[in-house]
Amino acid sequence: MKKTLLLISFTCLSVIASAQQKALPQLNKNNIKQVIKALTLDEKVKLVIGMGMNVPGMPPGILPPADPEDDKIEPKVPGTSGRTHAIERLGIPSLVLNDGPAGVHFLNYKSTPPKTTAIPIGTLLACTWNPELVRKVGGIIGSEAKEFGIDIMLAPASNIQRNPLGGRNFEYYSEDPFLSGNIAAAVINGIQDYGIGASLKHFAANNTETNRMKLNTLVSERALREIYLKNFEITIKKTSPWTVMSSYNLINGTYTSESKDLISKILRKEWGFKGLVMSDWFAGKNVVNSLKAGNDLQMPGRPDQTQALIAAVKNGTLPLATLDLSVERVLNLVLKSSTFSKYKYSNNPNLKEHAVISRKAASEGMVLLKNNNTLPLSKSVTVALFGNASYDIIAGGSGSGDVVKDYTISLDNGLVNSGFKLIENINSSYQNYLKIEKSKLPPTSLETVFNPTTIKEMSVEKELILQAADNADVAIITIARLSGESKDRKVENDFNLTEAEKQTLQALSESFHAKNKKVIVVINAGGVIETASWSPWVDAILMAWQPGMEGGTAMADILDGTVNPSGKLTASFQINYSDDSSAKNFPGKLSGIKDDAPLDPVMPTYPSEISYEEDIYVGYRYFNTKKVKTAYEFGFGLSYTQFEYSAIKLSSTEFKDKITATITIKNSGKTAGKEVVQLYLSAPSEKLKKPSEELKGFAKTKLLQAGESQTISFTLTPAELASFDSSLSSWIAEAGKYSIRIGTSSLDIKQTKEFNLSKDLIVK
Ligand code: BGC
Repeated sequence: MKKTLLLISFTCLSVIASAQQKALPQLNKNNIKQVIKALTLDEKVKLVIGMGMNVPGMPPGILPPADPEDDKIEPKVPGTSGRTHAIERLGIPSLVLNDGPAGVHFLNYKSTPPKTTAIPIGTLLACTWNPELVRKVGGIIGSEAKEFGIDIMLAPASNIQRNPLGGRNFEYYSEDPFLSGNIAAAVINGIQDYGIGASLKHFAANNTETNRMKLNTLVSERALREIYLKNFEITIKKTSPWTVMSSYNLINGTYTSESKDLISKILRKEWGFKGLVMSDWFAGKNVVNSLKAGNDLQMPGRPDQTQALIAAVKNGTLPLATLDLSVERVLNLVLKSSTFSKYKYSNNPNLKEHAVISRKAASEGMVLLKNNNTLPLSKSVTVALFGNASYDIIAGGSGSGDVVKDYTISLDNGLVNSGFKLIENINSSYQNYLKIEKSKLPPTSLETVFNPTTIKEMSVEKELILQAADNADVAIITIARLSGESKDRKVENDFNLTEAEKQTLQALSESFHAKNKKVIVVINAGGVIETASWSPWVDAILMAWQPGMEGGTAMADILDGTVNPSGKLTASFQINYSDDSSAKNFPGKLSGIKDDAPLDPVMPTYPSEISYEEDIYVGYRYFNTKKVKTAYEFGFGLSYTQFEYSAIKLSSTEFKDKITATITIKNSGKTAGKEVVQLYLSAPSEKLKKPSEELKGFAKTKLLQAGESQTISFTLTPAELASFDSSLSSWIAEAGKYSIRIGTSSLDIKQTKEFNLSKDLIVK
């Protein structure tokens, strides 16, 4: 009897429990509001604070999670940059977030991470000026993320390359916002074509790595609008990234992640962004202000944040409706994710196909800077190949924009695979040297990823060069640089060549030229280096950037003429570092005392500030307007063929709502090739000072056979004519004469045509 009663009450209890369970809403696209109602305050806070940056092998306590319990939750995908919290009782799964711009980057260094494709760096991709191709490269990121069970990729990185020493310039696209904005949109489309969310980062004015987490950027509203926000504006209006990542720095005294103006007013209200905003990792100071500003998700969560949010809701300083709005954005993201749709990922992406796309993009983004009747090389020549990186390529930059590479192809292999012969004793000297030096390097760890050691350049004996000049037909030397996250570059021995590099170049030049043989320099770097002092010594220079794991093959494709170079510079090459308009204001000054203990010992940082005194005169906007000479100007790049530009036809000489410019490009040389057609606009400057010209359109031709032509049209709308007038807080297209300049670089203008705007236009 007792037993039966017990059984009955037990059954009743479980019926009630399961009824309650049934009554609980399970997240779907029609019940978000209901789910929000069912969430407790603790659960809501969990949803807006991330987790999961527990890098295998990292000593405990370095990056403590927001909640110690988080570390006990098994990751769906090990070695990723972060996750969101699951609320299982309401059917809300945890999302997987991972870096980054150079491909899927796993942090599980202790074991062998899954194989992924290391694509070329962002700057190289931009130098293709080919959004269609870049979209395919973005597709590599999206498709690999999908096959590894990742939901959001922390890419693309799209800050302006304000100064050549910027440590993360390699991840970024250009000194120009129009180009950056369009290239970032292409990457986002490529990623999102696969149903994976992109995260457009770092929003905004994050152009320096020194003291990056507490750097206060002092910048005028006009420079912000026209340069440092413009690229983001273009991207947001062209495409819809699922997420945007705010940056570490402050702008004019406010952390970007805590800036209502930036996130709620400009990004959401003015530009119409509908997605989620997340913080950069461990960024910002006041989580309540961050939520109030519209920064929905704090990544990857800090211990102080949970308690602060709960307390703020309880004491009324954070309205519940504000928290609910961010929770709603997190849930909307969850609903779109592959994890939510239970996509059965294979852990087996199509690496072979991706290597082909990556190689194609690599060769299309390399820029031929000099060619004194030297390239392309005939495959029958014997090459004396110098420089560590010729044998051990730097495929990408360091930090979160890096990828653990399963293999890399260096130039030596690239050349041999295309049929060139190398001088054996040079080859073996470098191979032996690198083998010994590599064995001394520490094993890969978080520390080595953020602070990699580069192997000292092998010193080259004069004797070896003299012998080479006898035995080889041509010399190729690679000059290489590595830069990365959390550190800026230096002028000496980085932007400038080292004394040893200069001596080797000089010796090669003397010895090879004495025998009527040529010297070619390949630059394998993530950013601009000084070239003016040594370029006269050599016959050809190829800016090969950091071209990803297939880089050596792509370099050989250009050197032997398999690919006709069509890359163009997306940043100016200064003659001297000090010529740059931002040089005297980089990397900023320490402001005040090192008052706060650094939040994150992995990335120590102090309060400092940087003044963007050059205002809108960044890169070519400065060089061209003030007529300061560069080594190579923005938009420059040589080809193995020539192009002719027809006269420009305008749809009208009077601007109404828009104007269309049409031009025909003809390959007038002997080799098939592609041309980057660049449209610059000169605007009247009676009321506001303006740069002499600004890029407002670009197009890449198809591969034009010798003699073939292609007609290209550009449409300009009021937005392209307007400048930001801070006194009116508006974009104004000033009445007067505008000049359209179409050319092959920002200084090599082939055709010009004017049109008139009869009265000032205020542009929304
Ligand atoms: C970087 C971001 C990156 C994040 C996660 C931060 O330090 O600035 O670009 O996505 O870490 O790895």
